[in-house]
Amino acid sequence: MKFYNGYIKIDTKNTSLILYNDAGLLKKIYYGSRLNDGEDFSVLHQYDCTDSFTRKTVNSSFGEYDFRESFVLVQNGGKSFTNRFIFQGHRIFPGKPVIEGLPSSHGGKETVELLFKERDTDLVLKQYLTVFDDCDVIAAGSIIENNTDAAVDVCRLMSLQLDLDGVDYELLTFDGSWARERLMSRHGLKCGIHITDSKCGASSSYHNPFIMLNGKNTAGGCYGFNLVYSGNHKEIVEISPFNLTRVLVGMNDFMFNWRLEPGKAFQAPEAVMAYGADEQAVTSQMHRFVNNHIIRGKHAKKPRPVVFNNWEATYFNFTYDKLLALADIAKDLGLELFVLDDGWFGKRNGEDCSMGDWYANIEKLPKGLAGLAAEIRKRGMEFGFWVEPEMVSEDSELYRRHPEYAMRIPGRSPWLQRSELMLDYMNPEVRDYIVNVLSEAIESCDAKYIKWDFNRLMTDVYSPNGAAATEYFHRYVLGLYAVLDRLTKKFPEVLFEGCASGGARYDLGMLCFMPQIWTSDNTEACDRIFIQEGTLYGYPQSTMSAHMSICPNHQNKKSTSIENRFNVAAAGVFGFEMDFTECCKDDLDAMRRHVEFYKAHRELLTYGMYHKLYSAFSGDYAGWIVVSEDRQEAIATIAVIHSKTNFPYYRFGFTGLDPAIRYRVEMRNQSNVGRFEPFVAWGDLLNEKVMNFGDIFDVTDREKHSDSIATRMFYIRKDD
Ligand code: DGJ
Repeated sequence: MKFYNGYIKIDTKNTSLILYNDAGLLKKIYYGSRLNDGEDFSVLHQYDCTDSFTRKTVNSSFGEYDFRESFVLVQNGGKSFTNRFIFQGHRIFPGKPVIEGLPSSHGGKETVELLFKERDTDLVLKQYLTVFDDCDVIAAGSIIENNTDAAVDVCRLMSLQLDLDGVDYELLTFDGSWARERLMSRHGLKCGIHITDSKCGASSSYHNPFIMLNGKNTAGGCYGFNLVYSGNHKEIVEISPFNLTRVLVGMNDFMFNWRLEPGKAFQAPEAVMAYGADEQAVTSQMHRFVNNHIIRGKHAKKPRPVVFNNWEATYFNFTYDKLLALADIAKDLGLELFVLDDGWFGKRNGEDCSMGDWYANIEKLPKGLAGLAAEIRKRGMEFGFWVEPEMVSEDSELYRRHPEYAMRIPGRSPWLQRSELMLDYMNPEVRDYIVNVLSEAIESCDAKYIKWDFNRLMTDVYSPNGAAATEYFHRYVLGLYAVLDRLTKKFPEVLFEGCASGGARYDLGMLCFMPQIWTSDNTEACDRIFIQEGTLYGYPQSTMSAHMSICPNHQNKKSTSIENRFNVAAAGVFGFEMDFTECCKDDLDAMRRHVEFYKAHRELLTYGMYHKLYSAFSGDYAGWIVVSEDRQEAIATIAVIHSKTNFPYYRFGFTGLDPAIRYRVEMRNQSNVGRFEPFVAWGDLLNEKVMNFGDIFDVTDREKHSDSIATRMFYIRKDD
């Protein structure tokens, strides 16, 4: 970072963000590819109009002639909203500040603090920008301090404002619902406002906080944005009639009003942004950022175990003997971790009871979790289990003892989802109960993995402890983070996997505590290709838990061969959930080969540089490749998702390979493919879309499974 002639030049390795102090107005004059130091940047802004409605700044408020969506909105003692924040100066320091009570990235190189003071009062606004060189990402934070002698109400405090020139951007959002999370949409923007948000107390499967803005029709390049937060979020893209685009990223101001007493401060969660040449570049930057600066602890950058999870194998209906029969086969297949899902606790045999009673159901597990875990370990696997610690059933011991622990509005019948109420995580007693009861359960069986589920959203937003409803959404999330912080610090060995009815809380906040997330309850290979492609736009493979399941698939009844199911699940953190005892010998043999292949290549599969080859969202086929850092090795998968009669002979190619390396290309040994001759070629040729792979898409699967997809996985390595 550099400061000269009024310019603050914030550089990552390949990008520059340039701010200019124009007599107390901090202008944003550039964000793009890295520029040389020492330049006179006046050409970038000298003829700019300083009218507030055409300004490009790093924050905006109500009270001047900028009537676009504002960065900060504070109500002064219930009397006015007018505030004008004047730039006072900046401070550059190494590393980054800690955000109290909120998760945030780690390992930042350098930070600039920007200081603003309200023109007529003692309200202070501080913004932080931290650079991450290795991934060309900038993290942004904001904090407001009330140094006046009266309380104010913070009605909105965003984390990041980026004002851009031009209006012809394409916005990419990742939207969906249960079983179809993070499906990518492209929006050609026109004058007006596009909001991506959540109002349900979680980041949600409806709209993920990760967005991209593709500037191919403007100055070029692409921007990515995300928020390190798991509650209500809001990403506003406003196209103004003055050829300007404003991006705001932060907590949602829906039902929000934070009373800020004199002497107190309010801190917004951290946001992140990246600029790259195109969508692929931004994806790579975000992947690197998440792997290097969000995921922490023992499991960061480490291979993840191949798991068996009993959910789709048994649902609630399991016996001790059945679990052991499954474990025997799991061991034989080479699996490393056995996960006991829902139904092991209280008297739970269905969705309607026992949530909150985190001790073993002795009828199902006569020797408790400990007894089962010992048997699993005898078979050479580690043991883990499922919990949903933010919920309570009305029919539970916990609710009978402590009805006041539930988030429930007195005098109103609650909205129940899966017969659950939410716990009041604002209450320290509730937090202690959860930490203690889970600690006992984990210690009782020496669990090495916890699947943390969250199956309902917030409706009856109310704190029995009297907190304002307008603060509760955020206070809940702070309570959740406090619990996660305690548990993950207490059990650093335990691998926590996030889950929320599938992937309804797939965000950077959860990833600060949990290195991987259950992507979706939809495990069907064709649907998964779309869900995974959408997820991988903003999050790396190492975070994306992906299991193989049975056919016909339980969610959509479609079928495809076991080879296709593996090829799709191997794109993430691989595992199984199916009743092995029902599988035929051929399938078990295939799965044994899959596990062997995955283990041999899992570093490459989970941490290799991911490139999209073909988008499922725009054609008959999809494809992706992961390339090792030194580009000596790669694994590519091509998938035909819409079969056609008399399928056309498409030409395929890879990407990301070193043009100067000669590679050997083999196909993974798939039982559903007739013939494929390995070949040797230079990376330059392989990177072109020139290869005809013959009739490999003329698959036998379709004879068995009508309307099946067809996938082929290639192993590519430097030829000796
Ligand atoms: C929802 C999750 O997404 C599933 O994987 C499973 O754990 C169920 N909850 C259990 O109730």
